[in-house]
Amino acid sequence: MNLTPRLSAVADLAGKSLSLADIGTDHAYIPIYLMQKGLISTAVAADINEGPLERADKNIRKAGLSDKIALRLSDGLDNIKDNEAETVVIAGMGGEIISHMLEKPKPLGIKKMVLQPMTDIPLVRRKLHENGMIITAERLAAEKDKIYTVIACEYGTGQVFSDEDYIVSPFIKDDPIFAEYINKQLGICKTNLEKTKNAEDKSFSAQFEYLISIYEKFI
Ligand SMILES: C[S@@+](CC[C@H](N)C(=O)[O-])C[C@H]1O[C@@H](n2cnc3c(N)ncnc32)[C@H](O)[C@@H]1O
Repeated sequence: MNLTPRLSAVADLAGKSLSLADIGTDHAYIPIYLMQKGLISTAVAADINEGPLERADKNIRKAGLSDKIALRLSDGLDNIKDNEAETVVIAGMGGEIISHMLEKPKPLGIKKMVLQPMTDIPLVRRKLHENGMIITAERLAAEKDKIYTVIACEYGTGQVFSDEDYIVSPFIKDDPIFAEYINKQLGICKTNLEKTKNAEDKSFSAQFEYLISIYEKFI
């Protein structure tokens, strides 16, 4: 199975482990790919909705992996059992939803989490620190006209980030597409500033001005 650059970055950071839970699995490409590569032994493909689970089931059967990848209806990690997953992947969801999952109690035995928030990435980094986790690696992945951020983390404390670090993480500064990422973020913020600068509520334009001032430090 060939993965898109975004999912490929997620799979790379997930790497080798005994067991995996893919939360919000939808098509189940991540567990199928990692299983086919021999990087995991068991997996749970979990989703909050029946439709995506049916899609996952179809793909898992097609890959002949029904005995190795279990399907699970689950809101976040709620129905993942203790010691069922060494690695947890949560990809392709909004940062608010992922942050909410990080705040809830988690099953025992998790050694690593790989997160790929579609939005609110600084919030996710902050929630990791607030919930006893540290970032161990990050990747940027360009796909079509977007650049996605993938974050690997584990349990730990003592990782100190400034407000600026939450926006431009120290872990992405050496990424080969860092400059492209900064330019893209600047473009997005400038467009949003244009859209919001005449609004009565100045908090939106002030936020975009602040972000622009941070991103401009890295050009
Ligand atoms: C856009 S898809 C992402 C699929 C895949 N993870 C990827 O990155 O390509 C988002 C999936 O997350 C599921 N989802 C949304 N909220 C969820 C939650 N609270 N718990 C579990 N799954 C959730 C949706 O049903 C959907 O299948």
